[in-house]
Amino acid sequence: MLQVPAADKLVAIARGARAHAYAPYSGFAVGAAVLCADGRIFAGCNIENVSLGATVCAERVALFKAISEGARHFRRIAVVAGAATLTPPCGSCRQLLWEFCGDLEIILANLQGEEESLRLKDLLPRPYDASFFM
Ligand code: THU
Repeated sequence: MLQVPAADKLVAIARGARAHAYAPYSGFAVGAAVLCADGRIFAGCNIENVSLGATVCAERVALFKAISEGARHFRRIAVVAGAATLTPPCGSCRQLLWEFCGDLEIILANLQGEEESLRLKDLLPRPYDASFFM
């Protein structure tokens, strides 16, 4: 039987990934970890660029790593940032997560150990998706 890692483990992995953030322009380091339905976990950090627009968020790095390794079904994602206020995914990441994960559970955490569990549907109500033209 597949053992589903606890949310705490996912948060710890996201926090570890945050240490690899390349964020010299904002100084805002973020880590993310996505749990696949098959139990695999992929982590990511934000990777900034001097052009700013080419910056990639931690959530997207984690998600794209998972997708490029063949994962298509996801259970939850954890996002860890340093701000006292829990940091939710940006609009672009919400749209990308919706495409691949649907109404995913999103765990937000900070370095003080505060955590909150949300659903993507609450962060992205009335989503635009492929159902509109398929
Ligand atoms: N960032 C993330 O990686 N994920 C979020 O959920 C919010 C923002 C990054 C993008 C940029 O490198 C830095 O945080 C400041 O916006």
